[in-house]
Amino acid sequence: MKIIIDTDPGQDDAAAIMLALGSPEIELLGITAVAGNVPLALTERNARIICEMSGRRDVKVFAGADGPLHGRQVTAEHVHGRSGLDGPELFEPSFSLHDGHAVDFIVRTLMTEAAESVTLCPIGPLTNIALALQKQPEIAGRMQQIVLMGGGYFAQGNVTPSAEFNIYADPEAAAVVFASGVPMVMMPLDVTHKVLTTRPRIERIRAIDNRAARAMVEMLEFYRRYDVNKYGTDGGPLHDPTTIAWLLQPDLFQGRMCNVEIETTSPLTRGATAVDWWGVTDRDKNAMVIGDVDADGFFDLLTRRLANLG
Ligand code: RIB
Ligand code: CA
Repeated sequence: MKIIIDTDPGQDDAAAIMLALGSPEIELLGITAVAGNVPLALTERNARIICEMSGRRDVKVFAGADGPLHGRQVTAEHVHGRSGLDGPELFEPSFSLHDGHAVDFIVRTLMTEAAESVTLCPIGPLTNIALALQKQPEIAGRMQQIVLMGGGYFAQGNVTPSAEFNIYADPEAAAVVFASGVPMVMMPLDVTHKVLTTRPRIERIRAIDNRAARAMVEMLEFYRRYDVNKYGTDGGPLHDPTTIAWLLQPDLFQGRMCNVEIETTSPLTRGATAVDWWGVTDRDKNAMVIGDVDADGFFDLLTRRLANLG
């Protein structure tokens, strides 16, 4: 499977990138960084750090949009720390950003790779994806699918009562992507809140003797404190790697095709994902919305693949 990961690292983004790098089924064509959890200068640096921790300084990392299409930028240092990757000792990456803008890389890749052979995995705000679709609308018909982390329906929001962070950070971009007609798989909070980094799960990763797993444990130890305090749960929801896990083992998940529309105007509910879960409209069912997961199976997969990282 050929994929591009669009990301705003973030400790859970790191888990998604490491899961992809530890899985031989996946050819990671490139990583495109976007402003999100922390500003772009940090997300692009964090993406390179994660690759280096994983022994993969060969991965192409591009910098993309440094803010939303419209409105003010929101970030999430309170969740991820000032660096966006708090937990392990960080370092200046020893390889450079790849030349060129992330959006141009996305367009170029989709226009040159075989039609419908590349999957996009956005796990941050959707700004880069929207810009690519606006720059070259033809790419909509050339993507195999988009598998994204974002939104919420019964779970509502995590950054406002109604909106999940990735959508809230750039609702206009999300509206472009959900209206694109590209086959979509959506991992909302409803499913990601079911994959919690409990102590036993972290201990299984701690038993892996490699640099990536050691760094991941330190990231998860830092990352879980916010959600334990906020939700009173045993661990934090490991949102982003659910996208990669779906590519590798879709039978871990359950969902249904639904219409999904994005609220972009209401001050109260801006960034909400209106999911027609009960089919009460005749609107186009534009996304496979995932609602359930075998959480133990998910962590088994993640742990096994982390062990593959040299
Ligand atoms: O709401 C969770 C999402 O926002 C995750 O992608 C996390 O990394 C942050 O970007
Ligand atoms: Ca993210």
